[in-house]
Amino acid sequence: MDEAYSDLMVETRGLVKRYGKFTAVDHLDLRVRKGEIYGLLGPNGAGKTTTIKILCGLLKMSGGEAYVDGRQVPDMRISAEIGYMPQETALYLGLTVHQNIAFFGEIFGLSKREIGEREKELLDFIGLPEWRNEIVGNLSGGMKHRVSLACALIHTPPLLLLDEPTVGVDPQLRVSFWSYFNDIKGQGRTIVITTHYMDEAGHCDRIGFMHNGKLIAEGRPDELLSLTETDNLEDAFMSFAGESGRGAER
Ligand SMILES: Nc1ncnc2c1ncn2[C@@H]1O[C@H](COP(=O)(O)OP(=O)(O)OP(=O)(O)O)[C@@H](O)[C@H]1O
Ligand SMILES: [Mg+2]
Repeated sequence: MDEAYSDLMVETRGLVKRYGKFTAVDHLDLRVRKGEIYGLLGPNGAGKTTTIKILCGLLKMSGGEAYVDGRQVPDMRISAEIGYMPQETALYLGLTVHQNIAFFGEIFGLSKREIGEREKELLDFIGLPEWRNEIVGNLSGGMKHRVSLACALIHTPPLLLLDEPTVGVDPQLRVSFWSYFNDIKGQGRTIVITTHYMDEAGHCDRIGFMHNGKLIAEGRPDELLSLTETDNLEDAFMSFAGESGRGAER
């Protein structure tokens, strides 16, 4: 990786993912700096989850290159640097909240003491300390989402890839999530986040608008608003999407 890009935590160059003849990610050039909160925004099917899964090493790319902290993806060593919260929560429904969190801690080689300390902090953060011994299958959808976020954060990774972490989470808790994300950023750690909540997107340092697998615009939220002369990010997206045309139909 070039010296000039050593401040990048994530970089993709001409990243492509095809499913048969359909191109889900279409020559994506993404650059996320260390210590920033980068929001990947776009409609259903834009290619956000596909991109994140490739960065995690869960999906094979069809073309291009991807780097995490200077290491070319895929690389087994990268997984320890990433806290991944999948869009579809991947928890063990028959296990308790504690057992799920401890399981992820053990995967990443944390000691029992470390897991205990982190778990306490994370249960307070997600507002579920009294649910520690409850079977995850008995929790509401939003609560499962909160546990999934705790599992992604257990090993204090330098990069967080959060795929719609606040879906189904009530407004009050979403506010505290964002304050926590800002604390993480304050520690010099990096967050790539997808969301459909445009009010939240405004909290990101930079936003990338994705459409039909392409990055159609990128910048600080206020920059994107002034470029499009709009007062909300939804209209800003529509303005860029209109310029980029309808794109390839499936
Ligand atoms: N395994 C697969 N086989 C075929 N097509 C797929 C597969 N996985 C994803 N796709 C397609 O790739 C495109 C991008 O999907 P992706 O899940 O990345 O979108 P997204 O931006 O995350 O959308 P959402 O906002 O709904 O989560 C979609 O058209 C989807 O149907
Ligand atoms: Mg998705």
